[in-house]
Amino acid sequence: MSKSILSAREDFPILSQTINDLPLVYLDNAATTQKPQAVIDAISDYYRTSNANIHRGNHSLAIQATQAYENVRKKVAAYINAASAEEIIFTRGTTEAINLVAYSFGEAFVQPGDEIIVSQLEHHSNYVPWHLMCQRRGATFRVIPFDENGELDLLALQQLVNKRTRLLAVNQVSNSLGTVNPIGQIVKMAHEANVPVLVDGAQAVQHTVHDVQAMDADFYAFSGHKMYAPMGVGVLYAKRKWLEKLPPFLSGGEMIDQVTPEKVTFNVLPYKFEAGTPNVADVIGLGAAIDYLNQFDFAELEAYEDELLEYGLGLLSEIPGLKVYGNPKKRSAILPFNVEGIQHYDMGILLDSKGIAVRTGQHCTQPVMDALHITGTVRASLALYNNHADLEALARGVARVIRLLKR
Ligand code: ALA
Repeated sequence: MSKSILSAREDFPILSQTINDLPLVYLDNAATTQKPQAVIDAISDYYRTSNANIHRGNHSLAIQATQAYENVRKKVAAYINAASAEEIIFTRGTTEAINLVAYSFGEAFVQPGDEIIVSQLEHHSNYVPWHLMCQRRGATFRVIPFDENGELDLLALQQLVNKRTRLLAVNQVSNSLGTVNPIGQIVKMAHEANVPVLVDGAQAVQHTVHDVQAMDADFYAFSGHKMYAPMGVGVLYAKRKWLEKLPPFLSGGEMIDQVTPEKVTFNVLPYKFEAGTPNVADVIGLGAAIDYLNQFDFAELEAYEDELLEYGLGLLSEIPGLKVYGNPKKRSAILPFNVEGIQHYDMGILLDSKGIAVRTGQHCTQPVMDALHITGTVRASLALYNNHADLEALARGVARVIRLLKR
């Protein structure tokens, strides 16, 4: 039987803290989620019992650490339904995963006059690397706009794709509006024109069932720290055919086969893309986070978070002068808003004085803010341990700030 979602909160020790003498209401989960005790224990157990460098030693600890690390690769592959563990590359996070593809793919496949398409909904981490790659390779950077509901204009995408398009980069869920993009349809449209697709799954992989094969993404990137795992570890999934063709991104130890003055040859997959000593402890923490998540029924988890989101949107919509941004057909875990006449930054500081943690500002998405003609938003974002009481505290907190500042 799967674990009850209502029991999740007690697994996260940090949530029982007080902030400014009030119970912590943590609603900044899109920036990073908190960690369950099982993840904290897995990391400290690793350092207490198994720490050694991996893939290099033949002593017992080295073998134990290597096995633990490689077991997580298999867990990640199963979690996102990759065809094989060799298609899983450990990185520092989503940003490094996307940079890896931008560099390696750019070097191998992008020529002057070629085009790259991204969406206007992207986080800077799936925007800037392509911008810079276009500059390096003499390619043209194209952007799919979003409409007044915060949804991508697929007709515009259709018109942007052409024979010079080399790659499309798009997120599955927008970190600033919460829009769930119709990723299957987008991948299909790109593939019909032979364009590979990189999907940024950083805001999706912790909220919904994942199947990279069904999605048919060529590349899929995500971070551990937004899915209850530690910071400093992330994943690049790529179809084997791409990993075989792409040159390495970072070079040094581990990624090589032969090194002579005349030439260097590369290690087999996935090691060709993992130069240097990896972040073993945090990969093991990621494995513990996946084990933790696998205890839940994901359909139930998604329905629980969707209901919470609707509840929160309902409470906020009753507050006079409050505007929620975007109205997509499907939104996930993000409540972006402003109150007329109140700076988002001031709202954030005053909510914090009541123990409520939200993020304010551009959320690393200046193109989204520019399109909305605003400098930023207040963003509350949800995780599986949030509940109605958190959202009621948020709504009460916002109403109190309005009373305070508009008196
Ligand atoms: N990308 C993270 C966010 O959206 C940090 O807040």
